[in-house]
Amino acid sequence: MNRQQDGIGAPLDRTDGIAKVTGAARYAAEHPLPGLAYAVLVTSTIPKGRIAGFDAAAAREVPGVLAIMTHENAPKLPDPTKSGKLQPPIGRVLSLLQYDAVHYNNEPIAVVIAETFEAAREAGARLKVRYETAEDAVLDFDAAQESLHPPKSVLGEPSDTRRGDALAGMLEGAVTVNQTYGTPFEHHNPMEPHATTAHWEGDSLTLYDSTQYIHGVRRIVAQTLGLAPDKLRVLCPYIGGGFGCKGSVWSHVVLAAMAARMAGRPVKLVLDRVQLFGPVGARPVTQQRMALAADAGGRLIASRHDVIAATSMLEDWIEPSALITRMLYDCPNQETSHRLASMDIGTPTFMRAPGEATGSFVLESAMDELAVALKMDPIALRLTNHADRDPGKNLPWSSKSLRECYRIGAERFGWSRRRPEPGSMRDGDWLIGWGMATATYPTNRSAATASARLNADGSAAVCSGSQDLGTGTYTVMTQIAADTLGLPADRVHFDLGDTRYPEAPVSGGSTTVASVGSAVRAACEAVKMKLFGIAVADAASPLAGALASDLLLEDGWLLHKNDDARRDAVGEIVARHGKPIAAEASAAPGAEKDSYSMHAFGAVFAEVRVHAATRELRVPRITGAYGVGRLINAKTGRSQLLGGIVWGLGMALLEESYLDRETGRIANDNLAEYHVPVNADIGDIDVIVVDEEDPHVNPLGAKGVGEIGITGVAGAIANAVHHATGIRVRELPITLDKLL
Ligand code: MOS
Repeated sequence: MNRQQDGIGAPLDRTDGIAKVTGAARYAAEHPLPGLAYAVLVTSTIPKGRIAGFDAAAAREVPGVLAIMTHENAPKLPDPTKSGKLQPPIGRVLSLLQYDAVHYNNEPIAVVIAETFEAAREAGARLKVRYETAEDAVLDFDAAQESLHPPKSVLGEPSDTRRGDALAGMLEGAVTVNQTYGTPFEHHNPMEPHATTAHWEGDSLTLYDSTQYIHGVRRIVAQTLGLAPDKLRVLCPYIGGGFGCKGSVWSHVVLAAMAARMAGRPVKLVLDRVQLFGPVGARPVTQQRMALAADAGGRLIASRHDVIAATSMLEDWIEPSALITRMLYDCPNQETSHRLASMDIGTPTFMRAPGEATGSFVLESAMDELAVALKMDPIALRLTNHADRDPGKNLPWSSKSLRECYRIGAERFGWSRRRPEPGSMRDGDWLIGWGMATATYPTNRSAATASARLNADGSAAVCSGSQDLGTGTYTVMTQIAADTLGLPADRVHFDLGDTRYPEAPVSGGSTTVASVGSAVRAACEAVKMKLFGIAVADAASPLAGALASDLLLEDGWLLHKNDDARRDAVGEIVARHGKPIAAEASAAPGAEKDSYSMHAFGAVFAEVRVHAATRELRVPRITGAYGVGRLINAKTGRSQLLGGIVWGLGMALLEESYLDRETGRIANDNLAEYHVPVNADIGDIDVIVVDEEDPHVNPLGAKGVGEIGITGVAGAIANAVHHATGIRVRELPITLDKLL
């Protein structure tokens, strides 16, 4: 391999691909341990009340049952709700069998441990629970809205904002839109369910956990159990999808550790599909009021975005839907707010571009309604209101290619052939609609540490305690290390997923490349400087006495810039040195956040076909053009954007969890009735990444691509549906009944 094929930006194949397709890659429930026992969760079947007692006789009769852990016999832990140590969102309020109270339906209330999975499952089914219920549960979102409260903050930002005078601005508008929109409960549904294998050796605990944050699991579980963090090791080499639901430590992780201690054996606990609909987070239902006012030329005068989202009785977790409205368009007068409606449900959490996914549907639908009212082209309206700096933070952008995304996206999609009148682009019985929307997601970064080592065989070993959700972390970190060390990618081994490796942040908020990539860059730079110093001080090296500033690394060679004859193989320098050359380095965001507002931007275009009679709805093609800084891997990066668009289509047309108002159970708690997009739902998806250089975001100039792909898609599809049919659907998902 040479630098062209595997350098930064190249479409290098996944370095973990072969391990995955051959089954060699071990997931959290696939680590064989001697004497492994199996645990299953038993969850509540009422939404609110208390447990009066258990009848466990029939469960205990199942051969192979080792223990049944309930609040009656579970070890007492420091109270996580009162210790003040476990702060949301990373430390959640957990259900750890400490009380007889039931807080939501499907809450963990017992753990059955047995010799086999089948025995544990059978005994769990036979465990009888006696409940006492006194008050009615709050299970209706409309009713819950009778009592609202503001969240303490919205991802660190204030819950409410105002600039200028929105009310006066509304009255000045030549054209206004004032509508209420809704998005439903949704569940993440990764292919791999949550799973934890717990193994005690004395007072040391090893956890194999499917998590987006191994170092977070170590910290939270250690605090919860009262262990020193160095007694705990967390491993997660592979994850079968996360989408936000594996970003926090949920109850089953701690319960697995408690069960293993009770059984005196390693224990494996895997949630079943039904248990993914309650105890491990959800996207909360929202109701969003959006008002826009513009002058006759389409310039926004005022905007107002008020978000109400459901949360649980245990915690305040807010879907940050109005953040996008604060920054996306230039608008002098604005108010935004977030309010919470508490319900007797499991606590919601981060899900696939939390905030921007739901907020962009609302803002971009409202912008389309405004364009229709103004008889203005939707792109022209957005260009008229293009924000040349962040109007919310009043800062310049670190970089922004949105105009370019509109232009290239429109050209590739063929937008100029669009006829503006709804219903005017018919093809036989099919009504054709074309819609567009803006996409955006913040460019975040956290502190991270990595270590790097050059070996005598000329290879490099680089690691960081990060995670690969299936997104390509192994691969892009390999490319960054290879680029920095001047090695072919196949000479670099990158490893992650072990808390013995240096600390890395949660793989969430599209931050991994920016954070861990910068640390890998720094660790490899540090090793490189050590190597230079060792070579020039080595009398046996052809580079002895050279200036370090005259050296460069290429293809495994240390070269003199001005003298081709002076070169030394990296492996030989290390071999003569007598031991590997190693360094560890940290990288953290600096003051750039105070000087720049950092976001990725994009433009999404969708074509829908709606059958005139049956209202069958198809999306034959979507075009997305994005400015995401420097893309580290053209293949895995495109796959992430493409996957985001697919999730956007799911959000637009399919995904909805039905909360049963009688029981508080999610009625469609399975993949047969909770619909996610499959191949037959997906047409042509055209992903374009525009050239963009950003000198400010981080040393790599890379913006995250994990989440921006979902943003804007539901808005573009809803706008296309309106263009096809004249029907404006303001409640997701856009199902056929809403088009009759
Ligand atoms: Mo993502 S919802 O930030 O894991």
